[in-house]
Amino acid sequence: MRKKIIAANWKMYKSPAETKTFMEAFLPLVKGHARDEIVICPPFIDIAILLETARGSNVHVGAQNMYWETEGAFTGEISGKMLAAAGCEFVIIGHSERRQYFGETDDTVNRRLEVALEAGLAPICCVGEVIEEREAGITEEVLSRQCSRAFRGISARKAAKLAIAYEPVWAIGTGKTATAQIAAQAHEVIRHEAAKAFGKDFAQQLRILYGGSVKPENAKEMMSQPEIDGALVGGASLKPDSFAAIVKY
Ligand code: PGA
Repeated sequence: MRKKIIAANWKMYKSPAETKTFMEAFLPLVKGHARDEIVICPPFIDIAILLETARGSNVHVGAQNMYWETEGAFTGEISGKMLAAAGCEFVIIGHSERRQYFGETDDTVNRRLEVALEAGLAPICCVGEVIEEREAGITEEVLSRQCSRAFRGISARKAAKLAIAYEPVWAIGTGKTATAQIAAQAHEVIRHEAAKAFGKDFAQQLRILYGGSVKPENAKEMMSQPEIDGALVGGASLKPDSFAAIVKY
């Protein structure tokens, strides 16, 4: 059995004070919950307070992005090494909003992934098709390309902490979720690419999350699919009761 990861992607929401308030309400709701791994990925500015409030709890902390250089004259960037040093365990890589608005490509995803793993972080690498690609019937091709390029040059040994999030772009923030069948098909393609890159055993262990309008109302249905190893949750992770309900689907 692969332990599921229920991860919050807070995007560009919440100040440090709001993070503290969230945690005061959230922690008691998920106290002792050990079935799934709970991860929260806040804006960089909230990482310190999140780590402080999560200390000794079952909540793990991640970032939403990182740069591939370790340090240097890269104004506005934060490295994987810095995240690890701060105490982050996870990092989201290649979210579709980064691809759409900030010029992230399959190749920059690959560079970030490699360096995140080197820094000892557990990357949650996002892949997913846009609606035009789904309508054109090329979803599998797109997922294969995104995965094979992301995995390029990375060894199975090095990739041990990798997780993938399948996030159909048309389902993000739209209220439309993929059906369990759509997700299962996509996960199969991703697992196949992982087997090609890292071997069958690795692929069997690999956790593939689903993301895109996961809510308390649909979490149980999605999370009971054996192929779905967790969720990456945006909007519904911003309120303590709603994220706790998803964690406890
Ligand atoms: P959503 O976002 O849950 O608001 O659809 C998911 C994501 O972008 O990771």
